[in-house]
Amino acid sequence: MHCTRRVSEDIIWVGADNRRLALFEAVYPVPKGMAYNSYLILDEKCTLIDTVDRAVTDVFLENIEGALAGRTLDYLVVQHMEPDHSATLFDVLDRYPGCTVVCNQKTYSMILAFKNKEVRARIVKEGDTLSLGRHSLRFIFAPMVHWPEVMVSYDAYSGTLFTADAFGVFGALGGAIFADEVDFARDHLDEARRYYCNIVGKYGAQVNSLLCKISKLKIKMLCPLHGFVWRKNICYYVNKYLLWARYEPEERGVMIAYASVYGNTENVANALACRLFERGIRSSLYDVSMTDASQIVSESFRYSHLVFASVTYNGGAFVSMENVLSELAAHGLKNRRVALIENGSWAPSAAKKMREILSPLVGIDFLCEDITFRSSMHTDTDNKIKELAEIIVSTI
Ligand code: FEO
Repeated sequence: MHCTRRVSEDIIWVGADNRRLALFEAVYPVPKGMAYNSYLILDEKCTLIDTVDRAVTDVFLENIEGALAGRTLDYLVVQHMEPDHSATLFDVLDRYPGCTVVCNQKTYSMILAFKNKEVRARIVKEGDTLSLGRHSLRFIFAPMVHWPEVMVSYDAYSGTLFTADAFGVFGALGGAIFADEVDFARDHLDEARRYYCNIVGKYGAQVNSLLCKISKLKIKMLCPLHGFVWRKNICYYVNKYLLWARYEPEERGVMIAYASVYGNTENVANALACRLFERGIRSSLYDVSMTDASQIVSESFRYSHLVFASVTYNGGAFVSMENVLSELAAHGLKNRRVALIENGSWAPSAAKKMREILSPLVGIDFLCEDITFRSSMHTDTDNKIKELAEIIVSTI
């Protein structure tokens, strides 16, 4: 039995949740599941905006059939060819053989590469429009948000922007498809940030370019391919994207991430957090061996100041710290104030490795000389931590 929701009088959400997925894109934990959105516009021409992941094929096809209520599908707009949105493309075309795929040239090449099969297609260019009756879709290219072929579609009739991966969030919808039906800031912003930073965080310039293009549109609704539809307070979410895309911190505060084998490096990290809170500075503390790297990447985008503390291991940084820092570098974090702390019982060398990974990043400002201590915290380490807390206070 189908399970759909009306987004507006003639736009129907026909997507589905998957709560049995452990890792999105085989790497990001999604403990709250994942939503795969697809939208059906019922007009003179019935038009589907993207398809869904293979895991939710059955309910998706039932949803389309239920929403069409006996009509057939005229167009399938393919905004993004990543398989979480295109795996079921041919399932749809097989059911509705009269349907024409609407996509750009890059997408068409990807259809051939992924599916090895020609389709009846209408190839669109940037700014082209497709009339559906009352609705008319204008295609706006958004390369690298998140793949090179990505485009978004604007319907001037309803003021709806179908945003592909942009404005998505990790997590299943659970029936609430509108952001105003949940406490988004309290319950979903952290997962929205983690989604943004890890999926498109590397492509801030391209996200900025898309934000610039859509700033000229009269937008009443954002319809992403993951997460909630935005119909109220859209500026709240757009403003988050403006910050994230420019690599500007959301909060003046400190993220402390530590790698500790026997608790001594953890002890120093804890001491720093205490000295910061005593001075009225908010900080978040993470054990990189117990926290997924995607979370550390997300928190690094969130805070203005970052402190990494690692025990020395195999002549470098601890393995989980090296992994986290490499992830940060891969996601192109910029413009942060950073301090490094290393522990080494006989040849401390973790900070050298950490610097080596972080130094090439644009706008990384090291706050002070790296702090070195041996084996456990002594009075001189305590003093250095207090000095670091003072430096942070003076620069925050
Ligand atoms: Fe949700 Fe880039 O795919």
